Amino acid sequence: MSKLLQAQGLSVSYGILPAVRDVAIDVGPGAVVALLGANGAGKSTILKAIAGLVPTQGEIIFDGETLGTLSTRQRVRRGIVYVPEGRQIVATLSVGENLTLGGYHLDRPTLRQRSEMVLGLFPEIANCVHSPAWMLSGGEQQMLAIGRALMSGPRLLLLDEPSLGLAPLLVKRVFERLNTIRQMSALSVVLVEQNFRMTMQLADDVYFVRSGGIVGHRGAAELQGPAAREQAIESYLGAAH
Ligand SMILES: Nc1ncnc2c1ncn2[C@@H]1O[C@H](COP(=O)(O)OP(=O)(O)OP(=O)(O)O)[C@@H](O)[C@H]1O
Ligand SMILES: [Mg+2]
Repeated sequence: MSKLLQAQGLSVSYGILPAVRDVAIDVGPGAVVALLGANGAGKSTILKAIAGLVPTQGEIIFDGETLGTLSTRQRVRRGIVYVPEGRQIVATLSVGENLTLGGYHLDRPTLRQRSEMVLGLFPEIANCVHSPAWMLSGGEQQMLAIGRALMSGPRLLLLDEPSLGLAPLLVKRVFERLNTIRQMSALSVVLVEQNFRMTMQLADDVYFVRSGGIVGHRGAAELQGPAAREQAIESYLGAAH
């Protein structure tokens, strides 16, 4: 099956410090691909490279097109949307206004239709469309961040640690919703997570990231046993050296 996203030889440096080197990742249509690794391993940087947020060497092909120097905005138009770590919604704007921001380039009917779809998916925030976003709980803010990304009708969602700072019950809820979104549309996802168990409920493919490189790649079916857990732990511990 042809891939939606094919990235090869991705390297990113911050100043003179290399953060990611020679990373290759493939994402199939409708697939959830997870990046697992310790703090500072380079997971967010890989997502930012795909989103066009950091200068990147290497090749990224999306739906047959080489992205090259396309800007983040141009990538959003093609359907690549990044949901940053720590949510970064606009606290002073209302929930509804935050959603509108996510679909800034859409005509009014499409905007309304998407907004209804998102609020249907996240009833928790549907009750507070007119409230300022800062009034939402952490979990609701995460739902708003994902909802805002869905407004643009993405084909590839780059999700950076959606469970960060959330109570286990809320993590479960956010993941359930992600599963629903996935079943509803042919949306592909690159998911960055530290939560191995939650990741395994969603992912088709897992890449282990350590010290800026990919140190392992397994299909979900291969990841059921203790050997998989061992590799997960190894990829976390490795980064500490
Ligand atoms: N804007 C930046 N300027 C300089 N160095 C950076 C910047 N962003 C990240 N780094 C460095 O690049 C490396 C990879 O960072 P990255 O944020 O990609 O890791 P991560 O795997 O997402 O970590 P975490 O799990 O903590 O979010 C780290 O060494 C980090 O210190
Ligand atoms: Mg990160």
